[in-house]
Amino acid sequence: MEAKRWLHAVLFTFVMVGLFASLVINVSNEEHTHMREEKNKLVSISTTFLWLKKIVSSLAFGDWQFNKVPVSEHPEKPHRVGLSPNTSSCHKSFAKPGFQVYCCPPKPESEEPVIDFEFPDPSVPLRIRKRVHLRDSDYIAKYTRALKIMKSLPYDDPRSFGRQADMHCIYCTGAYNQKYTNDILSIHRSWLFFPWHRMLIYFHERILASLIEDDTFSLSFWNWDAPEGMVTPDMYFKEPFIDTERSETHVRRPKVADINYNFVESNLKPEEQISKNLAFMYHQMVSGAKKVELFMGCTYKPGTNNSCDGPGTVELAPHNALHSWVGKESNRYLENMGVFYAAARDPIFYAHHSNIDRLWGVWKELRNNEPEIVDPDWLESYFYFHNEKSQLVRIKIRDVLNITKLGYDYEKIDHPWLNARPKPSMDPTIARHALNMRHNGYLTTQSSDFTPKGRTLDSTITVKVHRPKNQRKTENEEEILVVYGIDIKEDVYVKFDVYVNAIDATTIGPESTEFAGTYVSLPKGITLVLNEGEVKRKSKSTLKLGISELLDGLQANEEESLWVTLVPRGGTGVHTSVDGIRIEYMA
Ligand SMILES: *[C@@H]1O[C@H](CO)[C@@H](O)[C@H](O)[C@H]1NC(C)=O
Ligand SMILES: *[C@@H]1O[C@H](CO)[C@@H](O)[C@H](O)[C@H]1NC(C)=O
Ligand SMILES: *[C@@H]1O[C@H](CO)[C@@H](O)[C@H](O)[C@H]1NC(C)=O
Repeated sequence: MEAKRWLHAVLFTFVMVGLFASLVINVSNEEHTHMREEKNKLVSISTTFLWLKKIVSSLAFGDWQFNKVPVSEHPEKPHRVGLSPNTSSCHKSFAKPGFQVYCCPPKPESEEPVIDFEFPDPSVPLRIRKRVHLRDSDYIAKYTRALKIMKSLPYDDPRSFGRQADMHCIYCTGAYNQKYTNDILSIHRSWLFFPWHRMLIYFHERILASLIEDDTFSLSFWNWDAPEGMVTPDMYFKEPFIDTERSETHVRRPKVADINYNFVESNLKPEEQISKNLAFMYHQMVSGAKKVELFMGCTYKPGTNNSCDGPGTVELAPHNALHSWVGKESNRYLENMGVFYAAARDPIFYAHHSNIDRLWGVWKELRNNEPEIVDPDWLESYFYFHNEKSQLVRIKIRDVLNITKLGYDYEKIDHPWLNARPKPSMDPTIARHALNMRHNGYLTTQSSDFTPKGRTLDSTITVKVHRPKNQRKTENEEEILVVYGIDIKEDVYVKFDVYVNAIDATTIGPESTEFAGTYVSLPKGITLVLNEGEVKRKSKSTLKLGISELLDGLQANEEESLWVTLVPRGGTGVHTSVDGIRIEYMA
């Protein structure tokens, strides 16, 4: 009896100490993203109470670590196509190395009634999204009012700004598992990128409109692909559009955005930066994006074995590059815009993504509006968003392929980059001759395959890559330079550029034909919490670059091999290795 009482006393003390320690650890180590606004205030009583409740229930029921997700495969797995989130699986995720976030809705979406998406009333005039730098004061006043209301809504209102931002966090840090499997669901670096972001800003726009009861309200786009739009738009320097977690050196007037930011300052004159940007846009939208996969990203299908990691041209940059450029340098992970979990907290995110969304349409238009993908695994993939009435809506990718049906459009403007085709940095025949003279002596033995160990990108590498067929078979076949086995060891941002037949790749850029493309990766949490105690290491990725137009420009179609140079940028290559480079053909 005595012994038992003693044991109880010890246990009680143990639990209390545990409680206290956990509380301290949790409050300091972890950020409930929606509490961010209150970061500098004292943790409120109710928050403390919530934590206590959580800890007590965790101790009582033993699910201390993470929200529990069973390990077994779903038993009665039906025949299914497409990807979708398991809305009862939302769990903590890694926002960046060693830093967990919990972005999940306060009430699981699985406990809410769901309605299927319906197209908006076609009799309502289209909302026209326009260039943000040309918006007038009436518009800015409206948007200001709408955003202020949105920011004032409580976090448990799904229309609130905090919840909107956390939707991005949920889907980009892998807080949801895929339905029917325990694999995580991620909407970056694959063919989900464009449609998922279209959905996010579609609902965001309609919520803003409904908060001010104005059917005509539309988002605006940051027109960073045209010279007049390349400076950060004025609107974002005023409340409520300001974000304190932004780069002070970049986001200021009259600095021209570096849309292919190398993690070092380009220090170019405005006119030079503008023409570099335009040539880069031409590359990402036209010469480097001739096949669907090159623009839309890799094929991402349900199940653990199909996780693809191959973003399309525009997702890599300007998308990733500008995210990093806007984020604050003194934050190691470039919050807010420079890291996925925090990006959508900056109001400029929605203008950036409106332009990305517009460019998807422009690319499609350049291909005569041919359907980009007809694979049911893409068309049938679905996600959940709250609409302006706070209803949970299930929406499929097939529903968002025609923006007219979604009730909006973009103002029609010119694409100045269409005329910005890069030029060879020097006469291709002379360059080729010089390259052969220089390299034949000592580099020919170096293989373009670095397996099994891979080659670290701590310096610029040039290798000779054999072309399997030294003439493309059919007119439509695209020659693809594949950089495979890209392994990012430390989860920081990484960028490297790829050049073909360049005499000195370190002194030229996307304004030269020799530029074959770029690889940009943002930190995304190297490990991903899947199930209790289970942690997944991210896999290696592949960069595919379309080079047919480049080969025409360099008159290299008859060559048996190419000199390929990888140029790591901003010192980020030390964390990265590649397994090799080869050439493939894409039908
Ligand atoms: C979704 O996740 C829940 C909780 O983790 C699990 O019990 C359930 O089996 C999953 N359902 C599907 C359809 O994958
Ligand atoms: C999944 O991939 C692993 C390793 O690549 C392989 O051993 C396994 O057979 C694959 N499973 C299926 C169902 O394809
Ligand atoms: C998009 O939808 C509109 C309105 O329904 C229709 O007129 C138009 O033809 C559609 N566009 C395409 C490319 O299908």
